[in-house]
Amino acid sequence: MTSTPVTASDPALPDGVSVTDLRSLAESLATEAGAMIRAGRPATVVVADTKSSDVDPVTAMDRAVEELLVSRLATLRPHDAVLGEEGDDIPGTSGLTWVLDPIDGTVNYLYGVASWSVSVAVVAGPADPATWTVLAGCVHDVVANRTWSAGLGQGATCDGAPLRPVEAVPLARSLTGTGFGYAASRRALQAQVLAQVLPRVRDVRRLGSAAVDLCLVAQGALDLYYERGLNPWDMAAGSLVASEAGARVVGLHADPPGRTMTVAGRGAAVDELVAILEAAGADAPDGA
Ligand code: IPD
Ligand code: CA
Ligand code: CA
Repeated sequence: MTSTPVTASDPALPDGVSVTDLRSLAESLATEAGAMIRAGRPATVVVADTKSSDVDPVTAMDRAVEELLVSRLATLRPHDAVLGEEGDDIPGTSGLTWVLDPIDGTVNYLYGVASWSVSVAVVAGPADPATWTVLAGCVHDVVANRTWSAGLGQGATCDGAPLRPVEAVPLARSLTGTGFGYAASRRALQAQVLAQVLPRVRDVRRLGSAAVDLCLVAQGALDLYYERGLNPWDMAAGSLVASEAGARVVGLHADPPGRTMTVAGRGAAVDELVAILEAAGADAPDGA
């Protein structure tokens, strides 16, 4: 991720737009959506449809939240593009794209376990983690009612308080978050890779919301995180929160983070984890 501060005259920003304004809009969108999810979660959540596989659910709430976010943006930022997980891919003319995950952690939402979040980010350039510049982002943890946000060059906060510097931890003492894809063939390789990682770290957590995982790395509640297969909406806001908090967010083989692999953490442990993942062939073809 780039960490170059963006100024009002930066070509990435349309005239009259500031990172501060974009960040505060991301915060208000994510928290409004979070309140809607908190108030509207039925006692029994049903699966409305499945997406990439039978275990990749979508609920009515995923769709309703994306609809809310898209309608707010149509009013407040009508010239910006939108890329939403639930299918909204709206072109724009400003050069900015809002990247939305209405519920990150839908399986958790379905079962009522652990956390689920709303992730809202705005990027300059195409909505592609390999080339975009994330300008601002907000991750709202709906269950814990806590909100992380960041603006490029502005640092990151949790509930408005700046995140404090976090010390790097040696690999062997690193609590390491990860996640698994929805395709069985990917999971088979991920299980083999996990067998290489688990003996070398303190322990592994699979919490179920990639956006929250990245924010936990930002504040030092996870030391490391890695996952293959993240989509732009899973990582846009959380990766900015992590990098603005001083964490590194990288890929394998010196590539940018993204679908192939996203690794986040601090210090030498990041390089050591990258080396383990590369040696394990974590990015090898897996049929997914
Ligand atoms: C998923 C969550 C999960 C991660 C998956 C994502 P969704 O997002 O972030 O933690 O492991 O890769 O797809 O489907 O709940 O929005
Ligand atoms: Ca997601
Ligand atoms: Ca989602």
